[in-house]
Amino acid sequence: MGCGPGLYARKLSDTGYDVTGIDFSRRSIAYAREHDRKTKYIYQNYLEMEYNEAFDAILLIYCDYGALIPEERKTLLSKIHRALKPNGLFIFDVFTERTHNGKSDHTYWSWNENGGFWSGKPHLSLEAEYYYQEHMAKVKKAVVVTDNTIDEYLFWDTVFSRQTLLDEVAPSGLKLHSIYDDVCGSPYSGEADTLCLVLKK
Ligand SMILES: C[S@@+](CC[C@H](N)C(=O)[O-])C[C@H]1O[C@@H](n2cnc3c(N)ncnc32)[C@H](O)[C@@H]1O
Repeated sequence: MGCGPGLYARKLSDTGYDVTGIDFSRRSIAYAREHDRKTKYIYQNYLEMEYNEAFDAILLIYCDYGALIPEERKTLLSKIHRALKPNGLFIFDVFTERTHNGKSDHTYWSWNENGGFWSGKPHLSLEAEYYYQEHMAKVKKAVVVTDNTIDEYLFWDTVFSRQTLLDEVAPSGLKLHSIYDDVCGSPYSGEADTLCLVLKK
């Protein structure tokens, strides 16, 4: 889920797995289809997917879980529970509290003559980060100005401790299978910037 341009989906397909990739970025799905004929790519919002016991495993990689609001995370977990076969695995990662340590509200700006992250055109970006430590959340706000547009973006991001994440996923019915520092399977130390859970149906 959230396969983007198919970087992982393609590797998994090449390894011999039967892979479906879902993303709601039209351009990413178009790119993925062009570069990987084996994977079945679907242009869809994964919060609206309707699968029933269809998959042995579901992956959500690069801390996308924490970019969702609590209601969406609940919806997602219930959709995943339904989409997994019995004993199926859900593998995902989140950023930990460590990534917020020592951070406080701040603003910054940049002029990007040759385009950049926010736009391919020359643009001015005015950015701000606000930390809500009691909610373990942060919002990044960007106002991006080009010669004929002004766009505003808000990125919410929730970080988790092992306990807050386990408490949150418990009602979904998915059970803890294993825990790692990252999706590469580094042993769990509790001291990394990410945390990867493998949950089992
Ligand atoms: C940070 S990128 C990660 C891409 C890929 N997993 C990787 O690690 O290379 C997040 C991806 O999730 C997709 N995405 C975010 N919310 C989504 C949703 N509700 N439904 C489908 N795709 C979504 C975005 O379009 C984007 O491609």
